[in-house]
Amino acid sequence: MVAAVRVHKVGGPEVLTYEQIEIPAPGQGQVLVKQHACGVNFIDTYFRMGMYPSPIGLPFVAGNEGAGEVMAVGPGVTDLKVGDRVAYVVGLGCYAAERLVPADRVVKLPSNISYEQAAAMMLKGMTAEYLVRRTFRVEKGMNVLMHAAAGGVGLILCQWANYLGANVIGTVGSKDKAALAKANGCHHTILYRDEDFVARVKEITGGKLCDVVYDGIGKATFPASLDCIRPLGMFASFGSTSGQIDAFNINILQTKGSLFATRPTLNTYAAKREDLLAIANDLFDVVGKGAVRVPINQKYALRDAVKAHRDLEGRATTGSSILLP
Ligand SMILES: NC(=O)c1ccc[n+]([C@@H]2O[C@H](COP(=O)([O-])OP(=O)(O)OC[C@H]3O[C@@H](n4cnc5c(N)ncnc54)[C@H](OP(=O)(O)O)[C@@H]3O)[C@@H](O)[C@H]2O)c1
Repeated sequence: MVAAVRVHKVGGPEVLTYEQIEIPAPGQGQVLVKQHACGVNFIDTYFRMGMYPSPIGLPFVAGNEGAGEVMAVGPGVTDLKVGDRVAYVVGLGCYAAERLVPADRVVKLPSNISYEQAAAMMLKGMTAEYLVRRTFRVEKGMNVLMHAAAGGVGLILCQWANYLGANVIGTVGSKDKAALAKANGCHHTILYRDEDFVARVKEITGGKLCDVVYDGIGKATFPASLDCIRPLGMFASFGSTSGQIDAFNINILQTKGSLFATRPTLNTYAAKREDLLAIANDLFDVVGKGAVRVPINQKYALRDAVKAHRDLEGRATTGSSILLP
């Protein structure tokens, strides 16, 4: 039996139940991993509350990101062996001391990346990678707006966009978060709970507006985010911490300057194994050379997953959070 955090009925953070579960031996194409750290992500709350339905029904083990050591390999697994240091993003099952993972979703960790770093960055950092390199290629001199700049994805994406030479503007919920975002690549911060962020973006960019807006907030920042984008620019709506955006008339993209809009997810960008490895390697590269740091600002025992979710949804966290089994 191993410790795990399961959801038996969807709801608030209190439905996260710490208990002991059986993990079977690895089946065809699977590896058994002893997890050293589990990442905490906003998507974990969407599954917990039922906004994203669990593909395996109830109960399910929460969590979508982890890192650890291979303890056993199942039939058909040829490129992983016992003792390998690995990390992964997989749908559910990560809030546990041990877990089975499909081998084709596993990435081997370079020796300079710790388990804790990996658990804090695989989902958030690979998301930042595809957003700044694939959804829209950020280049030198571009104006980039990132909402929730002091968050998990936020701090990584701001550093990466800065490294690529962009002028990085970040919205944040408090003065402390503004200072943190500035220390992590943001050139300009906007206190979007007090200030009109559209007016501030106009002022900061001298009326040019942004080439791309990365919006993980959803309902509360839409459609104002569109007013921050230059003609033919890109709206990347990659999350919904404030709730999902309601249906809208697509003509709004025409009236606001023939904008491009997308609702991307890492699942699509990393669906092919070669893309997963390319995205992960790109992330290991920028972290390895120090261009991007991964601040782990909250560490919790696995049994305290309820508190981890309360803090995340209560806007009380910055950077990445991890659970330690
Ligand atoms: N599509 C993908 O592939 C993908 C992958 C990973 C993550 N995501 C998305 O990226 C976003 C960030 O995820 P994360 O795990 O890094 O979380 P996070 O940014 O660390 O935490 C969420 C932050 O959102 C801000 N926020 C604004 N309104 C909020 C509200 N009503 N309730 C709670 N928070 C609110 C808060 O920052 P302030 O106090 O500064 O406002 C809060 O700290 C999420 O939308 C997530 O779903 C998408």
